[in-house]
Amino acid sequence: MSSSSSPSQTSTTPTTKPPPSSTSLPVRAIPGTYGLPLIGALSDRFKYYWFQGPETFLKKKMESYKTTVFRTNIPPSFPFFLNVNPKMIAVLDCKAFSTLFDMDVVEKKNVLIGDFMPSTSFTGNIRVGVYLDTTEPQHAQVKSFCLDILKRSSNVWTSEFLSNMNDMWGKIEKDVAVNGSASYLVPLQQSLFKFLAKCIVGADPSTSPEVAENGHIMLDKWLALQLIPTQSIPVLQPLVEIFLHSFAYPFALVSGDYGKLYEFVKKQGHETVQLGITEYGLSQDEVIHNLIFVLGFNAFGGFSVFLPSLIDSLGSSNNEIQEKLRKEVRQVVGSSPLSFELVKKLDLVQSFVYETLRLKPPVRAQFARARKDFVLSTHDSGFEVKKGELLFGYQPFAMRDPKVFDEPETFIPDRFTGDKKKELLNYLYWSNGPQSDSPTISNKQCAAKDYVVLTACMLVADIFQRYDSIKATSSAITAIEKAK
Ligand code: HEM
Repeated sequence: MSSSSSPSQTSTTPTTKPPPSSTSLPVRAIPGTYGLPLIGALSDRFKYYWFQGPETFLKKKMESYKTTVFRTNIPPSFPFFLNVNPKMIAVLDCKAFSTLFDMDVVEKKNVLIGDFMPSTSFTGNIRVGVYLDTTEPQHAQVKSFCLDILKRSSNVWTSEFLSNMNDMWGKIEKDVAVNGSASYLVPLQQSLFKFLAKCIVGADPSTSPEVAENGHIMLDKWLALQLIPTQSIPVLQPLVEIFLHSFAYPFALVSGDYGKLYEFVKKQGHETVQLGITEYGLSQDEVIHNLIFVLGFNAFGGFSVFLPSLIDSLGSSNNEIQEKLRKEVRQVVGSSPLSFELVKKLDLVQSFVYETLRLKPPVRAQFARARKDFVLSTHDSGFEVKKGELLFGYQPFAMRDPKVFDEPETFIPDRFTGDKKKELLNYLYWSNGPQSDSPTISNKQCAAKDYVVLTACMLVADIFQRYDSIKATSSAITAIEKAK
């Protein structure tokens, strides 16, 4: 595929952007309290993880303060996260949320998942790109490297994705034929690992049998140990609070697997590693640990969350929606091999993907620290934020902001089509930035913003080239009807 058809060409110019730090609104003190020392944090932690869950916890506070910006503790916290400060400012509407992307007023140093940062031993004692603020020179080096890898991989991205999806659907069809349904998470992750190792690292897992067999499990364990303290797991309480949310897990539990991944990237991804060293001035260790992180955390982790929710949206949608999608795919693409160029023409499929990203943003919480004192604007008020305070943006609420999205709670498959598309994309934030913007070294937007959307479109198009209809949940395919 020529570079002119690479996904980065899809960005549109923003029409109107919400002004993040406008001060023309009445300025109020931020409501909310952090409660008594230690007890306040513990009480909020139990409500957030156990008694209420994140949505109810935030909704109750939003209703009681009658605003979308308020002070609250967000776990992890007391007793064993001694260096973690849970005091944050929740940001729950679309306008205020855009402040999290304004690198003039916020910084993103070490705040990927809040004030808690997993030990750098998980990443070779290196602070990898996602933890770097845009003012740190290394951020530009690592981000440019990542953008370059994506561009270079665009000639194999489609073929690798489709051939690995072909393997996945083969396994699923066999299971459905025998058992009537098929759990697809394992075959999906196996296929994702192989596809992403090839595209991001330039490494073929089949050259390393243990990694080919278990690479996806190695990454799952490595991810889980880093993320568990920040994830709501609404089962088996109080055991979860005692054993999963009270202390950070040590890297030693996965160091053996990580060492194997390191050797795999070093040996099989030699060319990509050399590119990072010679073109971007990174040391060998910096390149390899950043590659493992982008492969495992950003790409494998991101797709492992997003694609099941997309399959769920599709597999639980009614016949009429599936028929419209199928018709578009067959009219525009027919049985031609899929390409980025072709899926860019699928308006309804793209809108379906955008609507899934709006209602089920794969990364729910985003954080940013005030770089200076500033006024944070909601639709109707301004709030004074002090330098150093941590903002906690919760995407599922911002993406259901009734002032921006009509019928915000409803999944409307064609919401992002026609005249309103261009305007609405300014408010679709799943990638840590508006869908109408592009990732650069000056922002913290997902480097693969366009690749993710087009890959998801390709999954939907591939499904309707294979099948007339599909029934599925976020973990299983329950029925498929082959294309006639
Ligand atoms: C569905 C899949 C994906 C999702 C949901 C996703 C989401 C995100 C989000 C929300 C961020 C911002 C995190 C923050 O700072 O708050 C981010 C950053 C990033 N993503 Fe993605 N991502 C996905 C796939 C990928 C892929 C495939 C790649 C690379 C090949 C990638 C590379 C990156 C990089 C390098 C950053 C850091 C940007 C920076 O530091 O400026 N992501 N991603």
